[in-house]
Amino acid sequence: MITPVLNELRTVVAKLESDIAGGPIVPTVTPGEVRSFLGSRYDFTKPMALDDVVADVERMLRTWQVQVTHPRYFGLFNPSVTLASIIADTLVAMYNPQLATWRTSPAANEIERHTLRWLADRFGLPSAAAANFTSGGAEANLSAVIVALTRAFPQYGEHGLRGLASSPTIYLTREAHHSFNKVAHMTGLGRSALRIVATDGDLRMDLADLSRHVAEDRSKGCTPLMVVATAGTTAAGAIDPLPDLARFCRSEDLWFHVDAAWGGAAVISPRLRSHLAGIDAADSITCDAHKWFSVPMGAGMFFCRHPEAVGEAFRAETFYMPQKTAGPVSDPYTTSVQWSRRFIGLKLFLALAQHGESGYVDMIEHQAQMGDVLRKELTRAGWRVVNKTPLPLVCFTRDGLVVSKFLAALYEKQIAWMSEIRLGDGEPVVRACITSFRTSESDIEWVVDEMTRLIPQDAEVNV
Ligand SMILES: Cc1ncc(COP(=O)(O)O)c(C=O)c1O
Repeated sequence: MITPVLNELRTVVAKLESDIAGGPIVPTVTPGEVRSFLGSRYDFTKPMALDDVVADVERMLRTWQVQVTHPRYFGLFNPSVTLASIIADTLVAMYNPQLATWRTSPAANEIERHTLRWLADRFGLPSAAAANFTSGGAEANLSAVIVALTRAFPQYGEHGLRGLASSPTIYLTREAHHSFNKVAHMTGLGRSALRIVATDGDLRMDLADLSRHVAEDRSKGCTPLMVVATAGTTAAGAIDPLPDLARFCRSEDLWFHVDAAWGGAAVISPRLRSHLAGIDAADSITCDAHKWFSVPMGAGMFFCRHPEAVGEAFRAETFYMPQKTAGPVSDPYTTSVQWSRRFIGLKLFLALAQHGESGYVDMIEHQAQMGDVLRKELTRAGWRVVNKTPLPLVCFTRDGLVVSKFLAALYEKQIAWMSEIRLGDGEPVVRACITSFRTSESDIEWVVDEMTRLIPQDAEVNV
């Protein structure tokens, strides 16, 4: 059906990419402007021509959003997207497969399974490990905590936390993703169940402090449940010491969760994978396809080495759903958080099939190299890089910089999109992450030159 128009789609997407690359990155619109425009045009009382509405929406998206697929968007892991993944989302909308059960779409279920197996293998997980696509990393992290609780406390499923004799606790650093605060809230653990472990000078979890926290909690009668290691922290790209943490978790009988929402993709790169050594010992892993695998949102993945605990955590029996299919298959609504389930995995499958693993390795290593170029260019131009990571995420500053004013000037001149971040207890610094496989060396050189030019010219930027 869609094959005959693929060339047209290719042309349209290429034109869009070049228009976006040549246009502004950051919008200036106010909420009032958007609302009054929508209010004046869309009261839904009369039908409208679809062509007009589509053109209108495209105009809004072209002018009223941060263009995250712009090669000079250096942001919060929102990637440029491959053509194959755009086609995949179109196909999914056209066929609307339902993945709640295996029988309703054997094709979609098996494509997802096949794709997840490929990545589970790269992580070094056993062939029996469970895996499912999620809406994103937050859902995958939620899944991890639910399954860990279910495995550690058989009574949790029926009686909840009130059936437990002691309070479970989770260990993570301040650099871990804050979805865990919501997860602790949603699972009933409570936000105070999170224990903040100290970090070393490179913002990696400090093993001695972890050990101290766990011992203290045991002595107070709490039950340590899980260590959350982050492989690529959101702010600075730090990778916690996975092999040490894996050993510690084994010796203390703790669930070892690795949140590799962004950094996990590095596992397929011969150049980067050694930095993820130890991830193969994880009880569960979060990895987002909609970050470094460059597919549209929302596409997260949850991997778990304990399929029986996953089945127990998400079990469901109804009289209205189709009967379970005989054979070695499971119905995703009984093995994951979601019930009705979109065909999330097609975008990764199609892009991976088109580019091949080697194409993906090239994309990922290109971005890692652009991170090195950015560090080099910044240093050359007198900026100070303040984080340490092999991943393409650079935090930097210079003496006297007022980050908020600097970023406002950067946006106003449409030089690039970067953000403000604080590392540990430090002062605000600028955070720039290479999120687009289209970002080139000349983009980076231009950006660094332009932003360096802002410093002497704009007295407001410096204190
Ligand atoms: C380390 C980490 N974990 C989890 C998440 C949450 O992922 P999502 O936004 O896909 O839910 C993020 C988001 O940036 C992240 O950086």
